Amino acid sequence: MPSKKSVVPILILPFLLFLLAWMVQAAEQAKPPVTLILKGSPMGAVKFEHKLHVERVAGKCDTCHHASKPEKPATAAQQACRDCHTKPSQPGMKTATQAAFHNPMAKSGTCIDCHLKSNAAGKAAPVTCGKCHIKANG
Ligand code: HEC
Ligand code: HEC
Ligand code: HEC
Ligand code: HEC
Repeated sequence: MPSKKSVVPILILPFLLFLLAWMVQAAEQAKPPVTLILKGSPMGAVKFEHKLHVERVAGKCDTCHHASKPEKPATAAQQACRDCHTKPSQPGMKTATQAAFHNPMAKSGTCIDCHLKSNAAGKAAPVTCGKCHIKANG
């Protein structure tokens, strides 16, 4: 018979292991990606340097990941845009995939507004279709 003293730690151990696994998973999920290949457009995939962009906004995630909205509440922080912005758009939503990123002629939108502003300040961020949508990206 194990003593009462040794039984308690043995019972706690599985719980601690579970907690550890959960913490590791939570940390894993929250980790921002480095490079993403967004393959949703027939015009060609967009290679998006997520890490570089996080540096460009000095860590301000909500520059792109807007706060949860009532029409479709978020289930996680920085959830993938395309979970909610689909084509066709989901019931109750008006912003389909393209509009989440830019308007039809790519003159404005999440990605374009900042690119235009950056270019006015001497940068060379892509603003034409073929500079973002590249078939060779896969
Ligand atoms: C700054 C980069 C950028 C530029 C410039 C750009 N796009 Fe996009 N576009 C994106 C991203 C990112 C997506 C989302 C891709 C995905 O869902 O995989 C997207 C999505 C789209 C979609 C929606 C795909 C779908 O069916 O859901 C279309 C269509 C599209 N773009 C067309 C264009 C056209 C036409 C132009 C030029 C007038 C253009 N894009 C310029 C980045 C860009
Ligand atoms: C310049 C725009 C931009 C900024 C700033 C940005 N993200 Fe993102 N992030 C994106 C885009 C675009 C995706 C791809 C979404 C998709 O696949 O639909 C993404 C995807 C992610 C994902 C993966 C989501 C999933 O479930 O696949 C995580 C996690 C994430 N971002 C975290 C962050 C964090 C944390 C920050 C701030 C430190 C941040 N992002 C800042 C644009 C941005
Ligand atoms: C959990 C769901 C969800 C996620 C994830 C999400 N959105 Fe949205 N988004 C919405 C809802 C809801 C609206 C408002 C209703 C509508 O326009 O359809 C919206 C609206 C927008 C609009 C229209 C302008 C505005 O503010 O109303 C843009 C642009 C947009 N989202 C871009 C993005 C981008 C870029 C990402 C990823 C970085 C993203 N969204 C992630 C749900 C989401
Ligand atoms: C807050 C400003 C900002 C936002 C928002 C933004 N970008 Fe950029 N992007 C830049 C700057 C600045 C550059 C670099 C220009 C240079 O190097 O001269 C850039 C460059 C790029 C490049 C070229 C490769 C690279 O990363 O250097 C791609 C592709 C790109 N952006 C795609 C996107 C897409 C897709 C989105 C929307 C999901 C987006 N960007 C949103 C600022 C932004």
